Amino acid sequence: MRIAMLTGGGDCPGLNAVIRTIVRKAETQMGAETIGFYDSWDGVVEQRYALLKTNDVRGIAPRGGTILGTRRGGPFDKKSGVADVQRAVADLQLDALVVIGGNGSLTVASRLFEEHGLPTIGVPKTIDNDVVGTDSTFGFQTAVQIATDAIDRLHTTAESHDRILVVEVMGRDAGWIALHAGIAGGATAIVVPEDPFDIETLTEIVRRRHDNGRYASVVVVAEGATPRDKSQVDVYKGNVSAVIAQELQARTGYEARLVQLGHLQRGGTPTSYDRVLATRFGLAAVDACVNREYGQMVVLRCGEIARASMKVTSGQTRTINLDLYRDIVASFVG
Ligand code: F6P
Repeated sequence: MRIAMLTGGGDCPGLNAVIRTIVRKAETQMGAETIGFYDSWDGVVEQRYALLKTNDVRGIAPRGGTILGTRRGGPFDKKSGVADVQRAVADLQLDALVVIGGNGSLTVASRLFEEHGLPTIGVPKTIDNDVVGTDSTFGFQTAVQIATDAIDRLHTTAESHDRILVVEVMGRDAGWIALHAGIAGGATAIVVPEDPFDIETLTEIVRRRHDNGRYASVVVVAEGATPRDKSQVDVYKGNVSAVIAQELQARTGYEARLVQLGHLQRGGTPTSYDRVLATRFGLAAVDACVNREYGQMVVLRCGEIARASMKVTSGQTRTINLDLYRDIVASFVG
């Protein structure tokens, strides 16, 4: 049996742990060969790959990023892309192609199976935690830890200056990182895309807090946040945390500073939780290949590893639990 894999979309901590697991299990338990395509779908289309053995993947579980490289985009973006993927699968006699990716890559993998009968299997990853069908993705917990550490540090500098610190976190159209890091870091306010913000309410929360003698506010803003007032959407577009910081300073009179954590949240060592989840996904992915469960992805459901059709990811975003968010806001924020 020959199993190929690729990593697609934005990198995230834990990818190397999946690669290592697939190689080890395929070789030691299944006697199967593994191939790693370089640079996501580019490597498939151009047939750039490495035959991977256990020795090639020793010691990589703690390493961030992906030893295979990754790119955005896929074969449907190129004229002969799908035909090139079909050719690679045939030329290299692949029994399965494991696609380790987020919503974009999993949608591509799903279409390649549904529309072209290619033997794809999915492994969901992303710091955004926004893949439908799984309770969690690896990479998320590491990003939350990095953001929480940053918030903890920002509290002390904010306190020393009686300032407002606005922290922008990633997450695209979902507020998972903002919500979890905001809870863990004891944020003054948490702004998520799922609940458009009202700048006057935010101002009130911050003003009340400082007026009550607290010397710091940390406002966590998800990059995809938008204002409730639709006439203001363009004002905040592409710059939401910076404009919130400016507005809070102008409206409250307290100095505000902005920290955009950006790609720091994607880099470096995965937490042990993410390494374990990535390893569990890798083990299950090999089983899915051996059982020829094409079109399926391995997922986490109620703590157990299960399967879901990759079709459910198509054009979807898994958003936060608004009940938890509202409960947190009502109990802690301000
Ligand atoms: O999907 C992961 C993610 O880090 C998002 O949170 C963010 O919006 C996006 O990727 C950034 O993409 P890029 O690395 O291509 O700038």
